[in-house]
Amino acid sequence: MNVEKTKVLWGGRLDEKPEEAAFAFQASIATDKRLIKDDIALSRAHVAMLGAQGIIPHKTADLLDSALCDIEREFNAGSLKIDVAAEDIHSFIESELTARLGDEGRRVHSGRSRNDQVVTGFRLFLKRTVPELICEIRAAVKLLLERAEEHIETIMPGYTHLQRAQPVTLGHHLVAWAAALERDSGRFFDALRRLDECPLGSGALAGSTLKLDREAVRAALGFARPCINSMDAVAARDFASELAAAAAISQTNLSRFCEDIVLWASEEFKFIELSEAWSTGSSIMPQKKNPDFAELIRGKSARVTGNLVTLLTLQKGLPYAYNKDLQEDKEALFDSLDTLSSSYKIFRGMIAGAKWNIKRMSAACNEGFLEATDAAEYLVAKGMPFRRAHEAVAGIVRDCISRGETRIACLSLEALKTHSNLFESDIFEKLSPKVCVESRSLPGGPSPSAVKIQIDELKKRINSPDAA
Ligand code: ARG
Repeated sequence: MNVEKTKVLWGGRLDEKPEEAAFAFQASIATDKRLIKDDIALSRAHVAMLGAQGIIPHKTADLLDSALCDIEREFNAGSLKIDVAAEDIHSFIESELTARLGDEGRRVHSGRSRNDQVVTGFRLFLKRTVPELICEIRAAVKLLLERAEEHIETIMPGYTHLQRAQPVTLGHHLVAWAAALERDSGRFFDALRRLDECPLGSGALAGSTLKLDREAVRAALGFARPCINSMDAVAARDFASELAAAAAISQTNLSRFCEDIVLWASEEFKFIELSEAWSTGSSIMPQKKNPDFAELIRGKSARVTGNLVTLLTLQKGLPYAYNKDLQEDKEALFDSLDTLSSSYKIFRGMIAGAKWNIKRMSAACNEGFLEATDAAEYLVAKGMPFRRAHEAVAGIVRDCISRGETRIACLSLEALKTHSNLFESDIFEKLSPKVCVESRSLPGGPSPSAVKIQIDELKKRINSPDAA
């Protein structure tokens, strides 16, 4: 079976009709049909410029423009049948124009190549959709900050090595997540700024002999500037790598938060109770309520990281300028952006419906000597060199363990004095988890006043129109 030769844009060059299986193998319309609006937008800007420059008659430019508008209208109304047998969305739209306008339609491709066309459409698509993703991220930051405000005084253990380390608050922990996500949104902003260049006018790789007006096309499409070099314009996909990296970093951040949630939802921790709508059961164990959504967000970091590796490997060693390999770029990046966007929606839903077990969190601070560093710093404040204070408190902890006590404050002042004479009765006021948290009021710290400042700063950042 062969494909109808007249259907393909390059049919004039080859005698034989393309083999159907081979044609299908190289077709990309299943993926790049998402660029339809962008392809129409860039074609409209291109034909308007061709008309204004006298490269095609004004009348032809008008006819092409209204046919492109018709195609878009039909697409929006759901009445346009995208021919999935077309090679790609660019070929499809050109063949529609030719079917509707005959030879006038055949003028649309003057002075352009699919090489500059596809990358322009891709960039336009990203300029229009990545800001939506940034909104998703910012919505997650906002939600975390709201929850942090509610739990600015909710004491919980902070962990290192998954061992209880020092008391913090749930608010402090949630702001730690929010701070990472705010940086994630910044990475997308940065990438958007760099990709804001218009490739059209670069042709296949070496521009055109026709007197194209690149500046007019750039302005009509709302790009900040034209691409600086026509070969770079058609060959470069570092903008895709950058976005895929931003997506992989963000999905990896989400995977860490989700790991915390999975742990906290366990019987062992019991710090969080996920709402039933955001949990699943087991097909065999009737008692189970599983944090599948958190696990899946964590699991999906694998494919988002995989997409980044795909994009980097795709470009590694690829000779200049365009090669068909580059067609693989969209599937990988679309998947990363889609996966990240849906992960954010699910993450927000999960956090919004979660209940926090404040009693369990606070009780977990009563074992594990989370106040040990505070005791050592008490001695430092009284003049003891820190290393000596560390040794003294380590001795106290050993003492407590041998007596079966779980807190430093369980020892008498007399017993404490055997470790250091600097201990006075005021030490007992310093060792409750609440006081430990309140005394850590340095910028960035867990005290309610410090966390409030962090929340205000992050709120300001996510409300700025640009993350710069
Ligand atoms: N579908 C192609 C892509 O996504 C369009 C460019 C094709 N150019 C070419 N010379 N075959 O990259």
